[in-house]
Formats: sequence, structure tokens, C-alpha cells
Amino acid sequence: MFRTMVESDLDFILACLTEPSVNTTTRERFAAYLDSGSYRREWTWLALDGDEPVGLAVWWGFPDGDKPLALDGLWAAPGVTDPVPMWAGLIRQVPQPTEYHIFTVPSHRDDPAITLRLAAAHEAGLKTLTERFRYEWTSAQPLPERTTRLTFEPATDEAFVDAFEQISVGSLDVATRAGVARIGVHAQALEDVEDYKSMRGPREWWRLAYDESGALVGCALPSANDGGPVVGYVGVVPAQRGHHYADDLLAEITWIIAEASDGGISIRADTDSTNAPMVASFERLGYRRFALRLVAS
Ligand SMILES: CC(C)(COP(=O)(O)OP(=O)(O)OC[C@H]1O[C@@H](n2cnc3c(N)ncnc32)[C@H](O)[C@@H]1OP(=O)(O)O)[C@@H](O)C(=O)NCCC(=O)NCCS
Repeated sequence: MFRTMVESDLDFILACLTEPSVNTTTRERFAAYLDSGSYRREWTWLALDGDEPVGLAVWWGFPDGDKPLALDGLWAAPGVTDPVPMWAGLIRQVPQPTEYHIFTVPSHRDDPAITLRLAAAHEAGLKTLTERFRYEWTSAQPLPERTTRLTFEPATDEAFVDAFEQISVGSLDVATRAGVARIGVHAQALEDVEDYKSMRGPREWWRLAYDESGALVGCALPSANDGGPVVGYVGVVPAQRGHHYADDLLAEITWIIAEASDGGISIRADTDSTNAPMVASFERLGYRRFALRLVAS
């Protein structure tokens, strides 16, 4: 039987989260996010055998959001011999579209702790598995050269929605392609802009980029999440692709974040392993690949 968390489950849940695991959720994170609204009692699901809790699924959403978006952890009691069907049942309790992100390194990619969780996600309908490379730039490195061939301007939400719409054409990003197939190009652009606005980075940082003739080249969205500054989004409109403009946009993002902070900084970024031009751009700009994110969606 599956049900959502009640207040008296808290000690049990914290005990489940004590042991090290592949879950993103830790004891500390659970308590803090329950306060901030990124975790909710009604988004935290337990599996019960009789009266005994034997499984747990913890979901994350934006603090101002009305539904959970991503699975942050799955736990099974030691006595459960095959956790896959139970976890699949837990995942099915939350309506899709949802995602399940597992943070790891390449050498642990095929550990059973990961493959069993991914099998459950697949069984529950999250059938697309994307491998995302995780990059980091730190201020121990020199700042990348700032572009002279583009100019950057702030813009309205409508202008960003329009730019996102153009950029999504021919995108190699798996989530963008899936979103466009699901709800269409305009709704996907609107949803993306809203999601980026829910992130912690200041909206004033967002820029549109133009070439010397004044034509739109793309957008650069520096941002931040709970872990610190991130490259929110880089995109070049189709007619302008093939000139490594991604490098100029990424350099600008790096500069905007570096200029806004007074101490040592680390900027993190992810891109699909199959998004070859973006992978190459991170590597040219001195971003270091440090880990792998597996995304079932
Ligand atoms: C990723 C992106 C910003 C790269 O744009 P860019 O700076 O113009 O890319 P580059 O100039 O470095 O391209 C290198 C090569 O890849 C090709 N290329 C770039 N983007 C491509 C795409 N979406 N599809 C197919 N080929 C592409 C270029 O034509 C070029 O080919 P060439 O070497 O034969 O001339 C752009 O593809 C884009 O906006 N994609 C959609 C948004 C996206 O994926 N953002 C990253 C999310 S993390």
C-alpha cells in the first residue's frame, strides 16, 4: 500500500536517510527542504507492508510550485528482496512528466544501487535515459576571454520566450526535444522561462546577444540553484550556428557570475553527453568535467 507522509513518519524517514547511498536526499537536506517547501509531506511517499513502512520515495519541486518535478531518492528496507516493483509502484503515485536524477561518477555508472533504481524508473514509465556531463569552472582558473563580436542586452520575458522558441529548433538537448514533442514549441518556451525564473539566480543577469548587424544570436542565462552559481542556459538561433558563438555566451555567463561575487567561486553546468557542440564549448572554455548525472524521464 502506498500513502504520503504524516508528521509521525519523520523519525522513520530520517533514519532511512542516515546511511550513505546514491540518493540525492540526505537527512540534513530532507529537514532543510521540508522547511523551504522544496520537499513536502504530500510529495513524500511511503510503501507499507501491513503497518510497516518498507519503502520511501522523496520528490523535489520548486518552493513556489504546485507539483513535484523530480525524484530525489528511493529507499527500501533491507528485508525487501526485489525492490524494483515496489519502487516502480512508488514512482507511479506521482503524475508525469517527472524526472529522476542520479548524481554519480563514470566508474559507478553500473553499480546495482544505480541500475536497480533506473530499472524501477523505466518500469514506471520514465523510459528515456539521458547521460549528462557535469562541468565546473572555478575562480582558480583565469577568466575566459570576453567577446568583442557580440553585444549583450537585458530583455523582457516575452523576448526570452521568443528567443527560446527559435533556439529550440534543431536543438540537440533531449529535454527540450521531449518537451517540444509533448506540448509544442511555444508552450515549452514559456515553461522554460518560468522554470528559470523560479531558480535562485537574479533575473537581472539574463542577456540576449546580438551580432554587429544587430541580428539576434542567442541567449545567455547565468543562474544559481541551491548548490551555488550555475550556467542556466546557452542557446544560439539556428541561422547563427557554426561560429562557436556558444563560447562567447558561456564566457559572458562566467564573467557575469564572477563579477557579482567577491570571493572564490565555482560555477557548475550540465549538458547531455550527445550535445556535441555544447560539450566541445565547455571544454574549450576551461570548464572541467567532474561527474555524471543520469536522468530518467
Ligand atoms: C549548443 C549550441 C549553443 C551550439 O551552437 P554554436 O556555438 O553555433 O555551435 P558551434 O559553432 O560550436 O558548432 C560546431 C559544429 O556543430 C554544428 N552544430 C551546432 N549546433 C548544432 C545543432 N543544434 N544541430 C546540429 N549541428 C549543430 C555546427 O554547425 C558546427 O558544425 P561544423 O563544425 O560542421 O561547422 C546550439 O546548438 C544551440 O543553441 N542548441 C540548442 C540549445 C542547447 O542545446 N543549449 C545547450 C543546453 S546545455
